[in-house]
Amino acid sequence: MTERPDRGATERPDRDTAAEPVIEVRDLWKSFGDQEVLRGVNLFVLDGETLVVLGPSGCGKSVLLKHVIGLMKPDRGSIVVEGRELTKLDAHELKDLRMRFGMVFQGAALFDSMTVGENVGLPLKEHRGMKGDELADLTETKLRMVGLAGVSHLRPSEISGGMKKRVALARAIALDPDIILYDEPTTGLDPIMAEQINELIRTLQRKVNATSIVVTHDLHSAKFTGDKIALMHNGRIELVGTMDDLRHSDNEAVRTFIARGHAPALGSKGGAGPIDPEVFE
Ligand SMILES: Nc1ncnc2c1ncn2[C@@H]1O[C@H](COP(=O)(O)OP(=O)(O)OP(=O)(O)O)[C@@H](O)[C@H]1O
Ligand SMILES: [Mg+2]
Repeated sequence: MTERPDRGATERPDRDTAAEPVIEVRDLWKSFGDQEVLRGVNLFVLDGETLVVLGPSGCGKSVLLKHVIGLMKPDRGSIVVEGRELTKLDAHELKDLRMRFGMVFQGAALFDSMTVGENVGLPLKEHRGMKGDELADLTETKLRMVGLAGVSHLRPSEISGGMKKRVALARAIALDPDIILYDEPTTGLDPIMAEQINELIRTLQRKVNATSIVVTHDLHSAKFTGDKIALMHNGRIELVGTMDDLRHSDNEAVRTFIARGHAPALGSKGGAGPIDPEVFE
């Protein structure tokens, strides 16, 4: 196991000529008690690009996303979003910046007491002051964008898991965000439904041209939705590249992840195994 992450792959090659990243995370550290969860995370995402963060359960993917959207404060490190150092913003500035994000939370996180339409319309009502027909029309438009026309009157308890993820997507794009963060968008879905969500993410990328981070431990979803893939392990990004780069990597954690379909447990030595070629087809 390499003790150091592959820093070269997570650093911009040429700061003078390369495009400015929309999101740049530098040397991010976060502990809960004596548990070090983030141990020097480096990554960047360029305008309109989708970065997939792959990693095993508990490695800190959701914690990382919550830092990127400013819901958690790091112990140290830097998070620059659209040129602004997020860790230095006050609560008001953070709230403004957060409006530029759409977030699909792990497990959809819909309000059960509200209808589908009220869930999707909530950001429009709260942040744009919309109401009446205008609110209803735009809510329906957002629901149509995710293939869910005519369900706004239903409650989350009356729709399937896949539909809930779509509603969460519709809510995430309600305010036309520049940046969309997806936390495990396909987890818990059957393969057909997962494929539909993957296709929807791709379609949304084309339609709204947002910069995105997709967190997942699903290799197929990573391959389908990502322009580049970051493998997270032991609180760091081990490697960033294409699926092909991952396939040819000598990094033990990467090889183990590919071979098993998941990375070794945190702190384990792991062991490189054969690569399953089907993953790349
Ligand atoms: N608010 C918190 N307080 C204390 N510990 C936390 C908190 N949030 C996360 N953790 C811990 O941080 C670690 C990483 O959690 P995180 O939710 O980021 O994992 P994950 O990679 O998203 O896993 P999964 O794939 O299962 O969603 C876990 O051990 C978790 O218990
Ligand atoms: Mg998570």
